[in-house]
Amino acid sequence: MNVLVTGCAGFIGTNFVYYYLRNHKDSFIVGLDKLTYAGNIQNFSNLKEEEKKNFIFVKGDISNLELVNYLFSVYDFDVVVNFAAESHVDRSIFDPATFVLTNVLGVQSLLSVAMSFWKKGDSWKSGKKFIQVSTDEVYGSLGPDGYFTEETPLDPHSPYSASKAGGDLIAKSYYHTFGMPVIITRCSNNYGPYQFPEKLIPLMVWNALNHKELPVYGDGKNVRDWLYVEDHCRAIDLVIEKGKIGEVYNIGGHNERENIYVVKKIIEILRNKTGDSKINESLIKFVKDRPGHDRRYAMDPKKIINELGWKHSFSFEEGLEITIDWYLNNLDWVRSVISGDYLKFYEKNYSNR
Ligand code: NAD
Ligand code: TYD
Repeated sequence: MNVLVTGCAGFIGTNFVYYYLRNHKDSFIVGLDKLTYAGNIQNFSNLKEEEKKNFIFVKGDISNLELVNYLFSVYDFDVVVNFAAESHVDRSIFDPATFVLTNVLGVQSLLSVAMSFWKKGDSWKSGKKFIQVSTDEVYGSLGPDGYFTEETPLDPHSPYSASKAGGDLIAKSYYHTFGMPVIITRCSNNYGPYQFPEKLIPLMVWNALNHKELPVYGDGKNVRDWLYVEDHCRAIDLVIEKGKIGEVYNIGGHNERENIYVVKKIIEILRNKTGDSKINESLIKFVKDRPGHDRRYAMDPKKIINELGWKHSFSFEEGLEITIDWYLNNLDWVRSVISGDYLKFYEKNYSNR
């Protein structure tokens, strides 16, 4: 099977490439990534020799029609997994336009090329699938009770989630209008190796190790439903294998935690692992809240459990230990990815928080 994995050099894309090559030795992956600040080609240096034979990396934009056309003409893809996106809520507050370009127009562009190769007259080649990887954030925010189901109406609040909802809807429209074999997956907050240190968990790990302040937004009681990235990759693998065309699948680990709990747990694990007494709760700084900060996300993953047989295998505390070990063993990776443009962005927008 030939698979186009877009956004392959970002956090989840990288983990997916490793996961898929390890578990599908007869498949070939073309990884397409624009290499924004969030993409890093060095992530693939740990692929085994036999895995490298089944993978090529192409630097490029999902909106580049000519390039994507060329890739389809050479590789005749069976599956597209679209991870490519601008993914950070805080950045979307400073620069919404980039989010619309990639997360809405980029998706449409990719769909249009896939359709031109997969649709023959009025019928579609069999066995093709376009997986649009999306987020629970398109559903908006929950109060203290209840869960997002696939039927929850979309009610995005940030430019990030609104752009993802736009991408989902355009993908869905290709299914309804043209019969395109689209499946949408919506997952909760992922964590694990290779996550860019702008997101909560890796940022807190890096700051704590450097005895820098740990900026907790608002009262720290916002809740996220944490999903270990390998569990997410397994879910997408199942969706490729057994997912029903035109459907949406929610993916969540039932690991809801308040942000302040997550930060305190990171401090505890890091202090135990490093023996560094300067890593303690005095580093925590409650800062001005993120505008439009969603209070709580929590997924109901019953559908993917019942229909596709998926189950999460990592509890939050287990996954967090593994994640922290990975960062402790890959500090050079963190140093290299936060150099350059990203650091400038961070210092400009957050230094006075
Ligand atoms: P990420 O920011 O780490 O990686 C995104 C990748 O996409 C980067 O490598 C970047 O270079 C690439 N990219 C950006 N614009 C591109 C373009 N126009 N063309 C080609 N490549 C481009 O993001 P992530 O955390 O790995 O998220 C992957 C997907 O999963 C995204 O669609 C995101 O919305 C979704 N998602 C992520 C989470 C999470 O917790 N990380 C949760 C729910 C959904
Ligand atoms: P984040 O990792 O940005 O993911 P998302 O906003 O997509 O859920 O943030 C996770 C939670 O952590 C969210 O409630 C915002 C909060 N947060 C902080 O309190 N401090 C920080 O420095 C960051 C990056 C996030």
